[in-house]
Amino acid sequence: MISKRIERLINNNSVIREMFEEGKKLKLKYGEENVFDFSIGNPSIEPPTKVNEAIKKSLNINNIHNYMNNSGYEDVRKIIADNLNKKFNTNYNENNIVMSVGAAGGLNVTLHSLLNDNDEVIVFVPYFMEYKNYIENFHGKVVEVSCNENFEPDLKDFEQKINPNTKAVIVNSPNNPSGIVYSENTIIELTNIMKKKEEEFNNTIYLISDEPYREIVFDGIEVPYLTHYYNDTIVVYCYSKSLSLPGERIGFISVPNNAHDFDKLIQALSISTRILGFVNAPALIQKAIAECVNLTCDMSEYEKNRNVLYEGLVNCGYECIKPQGTFYLFLKSPIEDEKEFCKIAKEYNILVVPGSSFAKPGYVRIAFCTKTTTVENSIPKFKELMNFISNR
Ligand SMILES: Cc1ncc(COP(=O)(O)O)c(C=O)c1O
Repeated sequence: MISKRIERLINNNSVIREMFEEGKKLKLKYGEENVFDFSIGNPSIEPPTKVNEAIKKSLNINNIHNYMNNSGYEDVRKIIADNLNKKFNTNYNENNIVMSVGAAGGLNVTLHSLLNDNDEVIVFVPYFMEYKNYIENFHGKVVEVSCNENFEPDLKDFEQKINPNTKAVIVNSPNNPSGIVYSENTIIELTNIMKKKEEEFNNTIYLISDEPYREIVFDGIEVPYLTHYYNDTIVVYCYSKSLSLPGERIGFISVPNNAHDFDKLIQALSISTRILGFVNAPALIQKAIAECVNLTCDMSEYEKNRNVLYEGLVNCGYECIKPQGTFYLFLKSPIEDEKEFCKIAKEYNILVVPGSSFAKPGYVRIAFCTKTTTVENSIPKFKELMNFISNR
């Protein structure tokens, strides 16, 4: 017999994954160009050619297939630390970095390192729902904080929900699914509240900054680097989106020297990497990444897609906020039940994900990491869909 928890998870399997599979079937039936699959955040842009060259080059390194330090190769961590120092004016060396198996691996390792049973972790609605699974993996409790109409955190609600059991707060900006980048003002206010509460409860509250989309931003918008605002910040980063490498499972966790319990925390992250069964992040891709720390994919295609989609949808009469980053647009469902809207959209070969999969019913997520022609050709279909809904 499998565990009751996994039984529940099987019965409540990821809607996004299901849609992804459904999209594959629809494409076989109707042809790729006639299906508008906006379900999963799988990057559509090829990685820079240098990444593939660097992977090939890694094969020539002596003992490349061996076990290593659980935190990852020292030289790779040093290169990443130097790069962060240049970009964000930090003061890191290899000891501040633990290589991870993507952001998902990094988040699990971080939560495993921090949580005791029933510790609370605050997340801001709307949020990447895997957080709930990751937190519950380690018997933590998810505490949801609501957002305002611009999908920025409701800071009053935040302040009220922090209590002596609050162990961590997860921030994800640029945000999946809203595409919003939290303003510097929001970050200052949010971290001021956390500082005040740390003092009030004489407790450490860690800020976990989940940053897969840091580089996917538009119109030159700045994404604040959270360690500059709050010492107890753990940044989880991955190359899944910035270099289009989600299948390679590579990223890192960084912790500043002045984070509370720094030495123990770094040891905890390293041991957690081992005992969660990752042992270490994959060897070849670690070495390859070290050659590519200054690179990202060309994000201009996502920006173009964002513009075409946003303008097209607004012209059809849909309501949404223009994404400032990521490759997601969070659309207000024109009918109250967004799951019903997703079902109707499917009749038009449009696949979008219900907002309830991000704890925000009444909205749907459109992942525009597709070819630009897919976005362009979807607009007339969105229009037909809107006409149908309006005339029901
Ligand atoms: C907000 C967020 N965090 C974490 C992840 C997981 O990233 P990775 O594939 O690097 O594990 C994703 C993936 O889509 C994401 O959107």
